[in-house]
Amino acid sequence: SIVGPLLAIESSCDETAVAILAPDGRIMAEHVLSQFADHAPFGGVVPEIAARAHLSHLPALVSHALAEAGLTTADLGAVAATTGPGLIGGLLVGAGFGKGLALAAGRPFIAVNHLEGHALTARLPGLVPGGVAFPYLLLLLSGGHCQCVAVDGVGRYRRLGGTIDDAVGEAFDKVAKLLGLPLPGGPGIERLAALGDAKAFPFPRPLAGRAGCDFSFSGLKTAVAQAVGALPVGAIPHATAADIAASFQAAVVDVLVDRAGQALKMLPQATALVVAGGVAANQAIRAALHGLAARQRIALVAPPLRYCGDNAVMIGWAALERLHAGLAQDGHDQRPQPRWP
Ligand code: KG4
Ligand code: ZN
Repeated sequence: SIVGPLLAIESSCDETAVAILAPDGRIMAEHVLSQFADHAPFGGVVPEIAARAHLSHLPALVSHALAEAGLTTADLGAVAATTGPGLIGGLLVGAGFGKGLALAAGRPFIAVNHLEGHALTARLPGLVPGGVAFPYLLLLLSGGHCQCVAVDGVGRYRRLGGTIDDAVGEAFDKVAKLLGLPLPGGPGIERLAALGDAKAFPFPRPLAGRAGCDFSFSGLKTAVAQAVGALPVGAIPHATAADIAASFQAAVVDVLVDRAGQALKMLPQATALVVAGGVAANQAIRAALHGLAARQRIALVAPPLRYCGDNAVMIGWAALERLHAGLAQDGHDQRPQPRWP
């Protein structure tokens, strides 16, 4: 265990995030700074810009967090940072900064896998009364990842299935671009979908009904592109865009419910269905998965919105879980890695 609070850093994509957790998991400070505006002019995340932005934001965010918690670096028990998977520039910045802090404070550095952070968020103290017990089914739905994972314990994960092409968040972002909505596309699609007719366009439900729990979204995206291409030249009428958004979102919902249902068959001992990742913020998706879980008589656990997207609380919590399980060695020699399944 550790002798004082843990400071955690997340910098694997376009969110610079810092959190401080007490050894029992109580959150003492948390900050997320979105670099959204820095990347908007380019229509996507630019790795070099992300790395430089992490570098310029981290010192102030760390100072803020420490001040908010009433601590100095000397009070810290450990420092954790995401060391993968993600964009290598940002990972180098976050891990380098974290290692420097840990070194100066004479404390251990704990290297955390970003996906493990998403996977264990549901177990944050106070989030679910009584907590979430292993094993559970994790549906990881983000911009870069889309997979069904059996979470058997801390450090014990089995990938039951995943996307064979695009991630689900990527599909939301690509459809948003087709409809001329700003990135990230998910929230805009969700708002627009609420105004449209989900039956207006008969989009495909890729892989639905198939054995296993793999996903595929590129065919759905192509179908949307063809529907947009078939419209009269000129700006897409608002009502039509809303129908496309609603029909697309309905197809995604059907696919997710079908695939998660298959995954639950592969993990009949599951105590809960846990959704994580930025796409888990979508209320239509949450409601449909809630229905699925209710039919299976298990709980649906969906973290509050601020813990669905990237944040440092999840990184700190994963580090504490690893410490408790005796799985966290000092990671001063751990190198950031862009790919880390
Ligand atoms: O987990 P996250 O913050 O970052 C990654 O690790 O990828 O997920 C970001 C993704 C983006 O693709 C974004 O469009 C999507 O989550 N997203 C949503 C919603 N909010 C964010 N997708 C659907 N509905 C939403 N409300
Ligand atoms: Zn993420």
